[in-house]
Amino acid sequence: MKKILTACLLLCSLHVFSQTGNPVAGQLLPAVVSLKTTGTGYFTIPANAVIRASGGEEVIAVAKLFSLALNHSATYKTTVTGGTASSGIRFVIDKSGSDVKGAYKLSVSATGIVVSAKEPAGLFYGLQTLLQLLPPAIETTGRTSTTWKLSRVEITDAPRFAWRGLMLDVARHFFTVAEVKLFIDQMAKYKFNVLHWHLADDQGWRIEIKSLPRLTEIGAWRPEKTGTFGDMSVPSPDEPKTYGGFYTHEQIRDVVAYARTRFVDIVPEIDVPGHSMAALAAFPNLACIPGVKAPSAGDKFMEWPASGHFYGLVDNSLCPANEEVYVFLDKVFTEVAQLFPFEYIHMGGDETARNFWEKSDAIKALMQKENLKNLDEVQAYFVKRVAKIIAAKGKKMIGWDEIMDGGLAENAAVMSWRGLKKGADAAKDKHYVVMTPTDFVYLDYMQSDVSMEPPVYASLRLHKTYQFEPMPEGVEAKYILGGQGNLWTEQVYNFRQVQYMVWPRSFAIAEVLWSPAAPRNWNGFVKRVETQFVRLDSAQVKYSPAIYDADIIVKGDSNQLLLDFKPEIEDLNLHYSFDNSYPDQFYPVYKETLKVPRDASLLRVISYRGKKPIGRMMSVPVKDLKKRL
Ligand code: ACM
Repeated sequence: MKKILTACLLLCSLHVFSQTGNPVAGQLLPAVVSLKTTGTGYFTIPANAVIRASGGEEVIAVAKLFSLALNHSATYKTTVTGGTASSGIRFVIDKSGSDVKGAYKLSVSATGIVVSAKEPAGLFYGLQTLLQLLPPAIETTGRTSTTWKLSRVEITDAPRFAWRGLMLDVARHFFTVAEVKLFIDQMAKYKFNVLHWHLADDQGWRIEIKSLPRLTEIGAWRPEKTGTFGDMSVPSPDEPKTYGGFYTHEQIRDVVAYARTRFVDIVPEIDVPGHSMAALAAFPNLACIPGVKAPSAGDKFMEWPASGHFYGLVDNSLCPANEEVYVFLDKVFTEVAQLFPFEYIHMGGDETARNFWEKSDAIKALMQKENLKNLDEVQAYFVKRVAKIIAAKGKKMIGWDEIMDGGLAENAAVMSWRGLKKGADAAKDKHYVVMTPTDFVYLDYMQSDVSMEPPVYASLRLHKTYQFEPMPEGVEAKYILGGQGNLWTEQVYNFRQVQYMVWPRSFAIAEVLWSPAAPRNWNGFVKRVETQFVRLDSAQVKYSPAIYDADIIVKGDSNQLLLDFKPEIEDLNLHYSFDNSYPDQFYPVYKETLKVPRDASLLRVISYRGKKPIGRMMSVPVKDLKKRL
């Protein structure tokens, strides 16, 4: 017994060492379940390698992705063929492999590479790990002259959660099919498998509904605005509506098929009954307007708020008391269900403005007829009717956690965004849950000091995202499907900024959702993030360097302002100036609380690693710092 224990202690510690001290393990993100190096040598991939794929068309497709990547090197002309062999590069379906969906094994030996899994998805994830074992040049979109060689390793890996999602809001700003595909490519590299496509909101309806062409003729277009969301000028009635776009059925089928090749499912979201101004612009008859029986475009169905509000506090919503609304939604969800093979459809349900409902006689009559005690129950009535429509199309319904208010529809799944508790409560009631709490995974929040970012009302640093724990205590694990990061795009005007907002915080989300729960090691994670930065550079994908920017913490009073700089990572020197000049490594370095000189008007601070500038030059007027007191 003692021997067994000693052996286990030895092996277990070796295992831990291999995960933390091993240079190969040190580069993989998300971290793998188990990795062993099996020798000091390398396997060099022959320039004319024939890659074997055994197990059907999908396996061949995965192997071809590998071949395509290798052939970016000028000397490489690899090919793919069916069947297997006793050496060389092999992708193999192994029916005796792990049952966990997405699990795989990867072995690199002196004689070849074997990726094996029970299902093609596992082979795809094995391929992503394999690519990360190769130099960053493998990520290039152009040509390279690299010779591909890898360390010898044995990897066994499987995901912790089944739902590993990212949400992209294409309603506030529109992103093209090519951009959405790029988004899918990037997320799949880090083993995400659900794209939540937020297709309809107040600022735009982005999906063609053939039976309701007005939806996109009217609802997909708005006046073009550039500036700070919530602080824009109110559009005049005759302002040209030149900004927008939508996806045709053909384009959606194309994106769905593309996502399939990356083992990404797409959950489409049609956000109702709130966040529906684009639909109401096309069909004002679907709103309830107090005193108006049959609203039309000429009726006042929305009041623009005074500038400065994040949202129109007086927005209208679809009217639950109007039977035409359900006819409309039946048409919409019929086409949505036909276009998206994924089992879930998302019906939104969040942040419904009810100010028009409050004053509506039609709503009062509905409450009487259906014995609804308050507006929560009115909304729950609506949600339950939508659930029936979606179920009739053969789909499961998921919605934001407001769908729990007033009583949750049978079988509905919940996306918990206002913290984790709503999700925990839903799971205790045996509803499936996806955790996506604002505090940890809202990718629209600022990730650096406020002086460095497009202004948004909240901040979320990388280290906070890395603390995300989707599994609450005291719930049956099977009800927590997984988690998701959400990118709302009010302040995201272009696709480069999409990438900037997504990376590196989605590295943290990827790791939380894929890798074993414990132990998390922030410093080790940061090293791996920096390894990925080099790969993103190679792929020409933008990311935020916010981990190198200090948080500026203001104390004292307006007579004597005091500053502290809080770096997110350990090994940085923060050099600063108050004399309007640009600091470098010869300038003072922050060690303790600084007194701002009496007449200083500008703080500048930049981080160095050794002699190398690594952060961005931060320039903050002292008058702005005083406002933070
Ligand atoms: C949400 O952020 N309104 C779901």
